[in-house]
Amino acid sequence: MCGIVGILGTEAVAPQLLDALKRLEYRGYDSAGITTVNGGAFQRKRAEGKLRNLESALASGPLAGNAGIGHTRWATHGAPNVRNAHPHIAGRVAVVHNGIIENFQDLRNEILVAGGDLQSDTDTEVVAHLIDRKLSSGLSPKEAVAEVLPKLKGAFALALLFEGDEDLLIGARKGSPLAVGHGTGEMYLGSDAIALSPFTDRITYLEEGDWAVLTRSGVSIFDSQNKPVSRRESRSAVTAGLIDKGNYRHFMAKEIHEQPEVLGHTLSHYIDLGEKRIRIPAIEALDFKSLDRIVLSACGTAFYAGLVAKYWFEKYARLPVEIDIASEFRYRETPMSGRDCALFISQSGETADTLASLRYCKAQGAVIGAVVNVAESTIAREADVVFPTIAGPEIGVASTKAFTCQLTVLAALAVHAGLVRGHITVDEEAELVEALAAVPNFALSALKTEPAIEAMSQTLAKASNALYLGRGTNFPLALEGALKLKELSYIHAEGYAAGELKHGPIALIDETLPVFVIAPHDGIYEKTVSNMQEVAARGGRIVLLTDENGADKGSAAAETIILPAMHDLITPIVYALPVQLLAYHTAVFMGTDVDQPRNLAKSVTVE
Ligand code: AGP
Repeated sequence: MCGIVGILGTEAVAPQLLDALKRLEYRGYDSAGITTVNGGAFQRKRAEGKLRNLESALASGPLAGNAGIGHTRWATHGAPNVRNAHPHIAGRVAVVHNGIIENFQDLRNEILVAGGDLQSDTDTEVVAHLIDRKLSSGLSPKEAVAEVLPKLKGAFALALLFEGDEDLLIGARKGSPLAVGHGTGEMYLGSDAIALSPFTDRITYLEEGDWAVLTRSGVSIFDSQNKPVSRRESRSAVTAGLIDKGNYRHFMAKEIHEQPEVLGHTLSHYIDLGEKRIRIPAIEALDFKSLDRIVLSACGTAFYAGLVAKYWFEKYARLPVEIDIASEFRYRETPMSGRDCALFISQSGETADTLASLRYCKAQGAVIGAVVNVAESTIAREADVVFPTIAGPEIGVASTKAFTCQLTVLAALAVHAGLVRGHITVDEEAELVEALAAVPNFALSALKTEPAIEAMSQTLAKASNALYLGRGTNFPLALEGALKLKELSYIHAEGYAAGELKHGPIALIDETLPVFVIAPHDGIYEKTVSNMQEVAARGGRIVLLTDENGADKGSAAAETIILPAMHDLITPIVYALPVQLLAYHTAVFMGTDVDQPRNLAKSVTVE
């Protein structure tokens, strides 16, 4: 998704803007630009491709000016080129935008009819033209923005700069997040706290429909009815040091290896190891005893975490779970009742489809729970109760540590639900808590498989398709494994329930198709052994991920990755690490852009 930054500084802001844009790279982009205002006039540099191209343009022609805006663009309307790169300028107005202005075509026509000269193919440019026309009619920048915002339909986070005024920034948010940063004699606007982390940890998040007028002495915030409002200033936990690769080659590698640590942080938030009890802060907001059903919705990897949770809630709490991907759920008009709890899973807490699904359920009167990694995110702020994953900032576009922390939180919720609904005894709770408490150590063991996985990734890199199989709670992990491989290496992969093989996919089997079987030695392992033999009998090449008890029965496998035997509850959490490593090393071997795979964004804040 696009990234936005604005700075009212005390010195030339172009280098600071570039620094902030570098911290927004993780969101995914394909062009970038900066505009400053100096001596009353705009100065602008834009470049296609990676930030290094903008950096070299700035090196050959530095921008002066202590006020400016910057943008990393993930193309929606108009090709990813300089012409369409932000900031866009019309007259005395420069604008950067994250989101989609859905009525942009009508507005473009309105501007053309009025004689406006459109320079790009973007939706964003219309904002600058509309505000500039209001300025020409004698309105002040604040009055002009107040009049134009209601004309914009769709989603937007905007930062606006005005020629001739070097102590003014205006920001607005509707559907896409935007934060105000408070400095000493400086003020900032940014898509998130990460962008502003080099300058300040004092952050005010704008609410839906808010817009803000910044000068170096402070900020005035208005709601969608233009009424002055005050929003809480908080201290962001994100420090510039956290957004650093350390001695890892990629953020994704760092985040895969952080999992033992962050899983430990997350567990300590939800279990009392001494008492061997689940302890969930604010859980009283969710009365599992009175629930008939849990409705679960998320996207991508977060959705697969929800699929695993469905097995857990139904098995341990006898609680039916209705789950769907948010882009479908938000339009299905699922009938709901007050005895439903709606649970949303999101690393960023800003995914547009997941947020829209939350708002549907809220309107239906359901209690809203959210499992999120960004505490101040929109989904977190709109939920009735938040269950945080303590994973720390996840910068790599491919979600890794957030996924395993989501599973850990969901497992704790399912066990707690089972206890309060009388389907789990205190002794059984203690056993499951002990299983969860062992996750960080098993995660460390799983990381020890990395050399073997790196070696096999070189073979995988030659494949053009791959198949992942799993059963039970490892079936969603097969789906996740296929997604990881697809999104990182661009190799087509499919995840399937192992039992479904005979119903079609077995036709795909030949010696060119690598088949990854995720199968701890659990109660249904023998069934999966049969599936492996069916594959091997047709020349299929199997890589088996199992434990020491399964390894000897997995003779049909060409290669076997062996993990320690562990409780069934935690296999989808621990087995995720080798699955992540396989996709990571395959992508590294193939030379793809591991932290920012092509076409992808870290947080999909548009539909
Ligand atoms: C996962 O590796 C992908 N980056 C993507 O599927 C992601 O999980 C999805 O977009 C949901 O994002 P969220 O967790 O921030 O809502």
